[in-house]
Amino acid sequence: KILILDFGSQYTQLIARRVRELNVYCEIYPYNNVPALTEDVKGVILSGSPCSVRDEIHPTIDLSQFLGKIPVLGVCYGAQLMAHELGGEVTPSTIREYGRARLNEIHNHDRLLKELTIGSVVWMSHGDTIKEIPDNIEVIASTESVRVAAYKLKGQETYGIQFHPEVTHSDEGKTLLRNFVVHICGCIQDWTSEQFVESTVAALKEQLGDDKVVLGLSGGVDSSVAAMLIHHAIGKNLYCIFVDNGLLRKDEFENVLDSYKHMGLNVKGVDSKSKFYTALAGLTDPELKRKAIGRVFIEVFDEESHRIEDVKWLAQGTIYPDVIESMSVKGPSATIKSHHNVGGLPDFMKLKVVEPLKALFKDEVRLVGKTLKIDDAILGRHPFPGPGLAIRILGDVTPEKVNILQSVDHIFISNLKKTGLYDEVWQAGAILTPVQTVGVMGDERTYENVVALRAVTSIDGMTADWSRLPYEFLADVSNEIINKVKGVNRVVYDISSKPPATIEWE
Ligand code: XMP
Repeated sequence: KILILDFGSQYTQLIARRVRELNVYCEIYPYNNVPALTEDVKGVILSGSPCSVRDEIHPTIDLSQFLGKIPVLGVCYGAQLMAHELGGEVTPSTIREYGRARLNEIHNHDRLLKELTIGSVVWMSHGDTIKEIPDNIEVIASTESVRVAAYKLKGQETYGIQFHPEVTHSDEGKTLLRNFVVHICGCIQDWTSEQFVESTVAALKEQLGDDKVVLGLSGGVDSSVAAMLIHHAIGKNLYCIFVDNGLLRKDEFENVLDSYKHMGLNVKGVDSKSKFYTALAGLTDPELKRKAIGRVFIEVFDEESHRIEDVKWLAQGTIYPDVIESMSVKGPSATIKSHHNVGGLPDFMKLKVVEPLKALFKDEVRLVGKTLKIDDAILGRHPFPGPGLAIRILGDVTPEKVNILQSVDHIFISNLKKTGLYDEVWQAGAILTPVQTVGVMGDERTYENVVALRAVTSIDGMTADWSRLPYEFLADVSNEIINKVKGVNRVVYDISSKPPATIEWE
């Protein structure tokens, strides 16, 4: 495997994804928490950083643990850090290098740059530049304005590059990464979803034996794939619980429950709608709504898991970005939700935890899901928030409002599917506002609610842009909603990006 040491760059995860796309396994660690080198580590990549090596206090590592012992590739800050530590000089760029540049000099005989071509576009994003290098460093590529665009430490497999090969704007970035990971580090390209399924199922069999495992299904991709992997390992000893909180999409509970049964899962659907509605009654504050939903879910799940005699494990669909987040350079940003601490932990949270997806990125989870032959309807599903429609009903939540919003949402989503736009959008949904406006229907004055439609494009939900849905499509959806859904007489489309807005309205 490859170790990627993170100095806080926004691109670190992208490096990892590119390496994984080469079918090579890699792990990210924060620079201040580097694991000891083991035999399976074939190479190290040092990431970029928002910091500068010229700052008195800047992130650094003990390079002697790697240099000369194992191939190292420093990217941007990683390259500057090595150059700095080895006696070179890093200065502020006279012209700020940001955006596309072209390599105009390449030492092709060097293994890192094999098959790269003169004129190749590389993506630059740095405020510092490597001005002077010591004698033991050789420049192996340049652009017009950056002489040290790539360098090699003479006599060892240590490289630095000023540009970002992980960004798709770098035309031959993937070739460069392949050169490093496969040809220089000698990694075998065996990280495939088939291989993952085979080895994970075998490992789960070993780990779980005849033990019983409980898992909460949400209808989403992660919990479904986690369930199928464990199902392949232990069959009926996996007890799945799917809770109807009354805040799902129209008919979703029944449809998804059906799919799960078809997939052969041992799943119990639990109708807890009224418990959730009771807890939500009168609550208008978004955070209080979230907390109430979280609390009731834990109560229901705890009660259900108590019914499973002698259960030993709790399975979770945690994926790699959650793991990275929890040990990131900046420290865990997600605080444990307060309700987890009220009155001690519920019993199911004391179970041993099994997380079969914790090494995977989201796109890899989907690939594994495909390998496991999970329905496209589940794998291609838009993300949906845990608190469901409750955070799309502004103000207090009632079953009647849920009903109205379900109908609106259903019209919007089914039209997206019908017109083939569903897969172009990352997430879509409708919001029921408490705003009432005047309208006219036939000869009658109406005074009803405004709903908003929201559709966004995004990679990971951290940033998002509003989808440029065709006017004709919006016109049709708006017409259908106003004609068919009682209680709604106006439809608006949300054209805010994130940031500064968020995807959800609450
Ligand atoms: P925001 O609104 O923060 O949403 O831009 C980003 C992504 O997270 C989802 N989301 C949630 N998911 N519990 C969840 O499980 C929540 O409380 C929650 N709030 C937002 C949202 O749907 C989007 O995909």
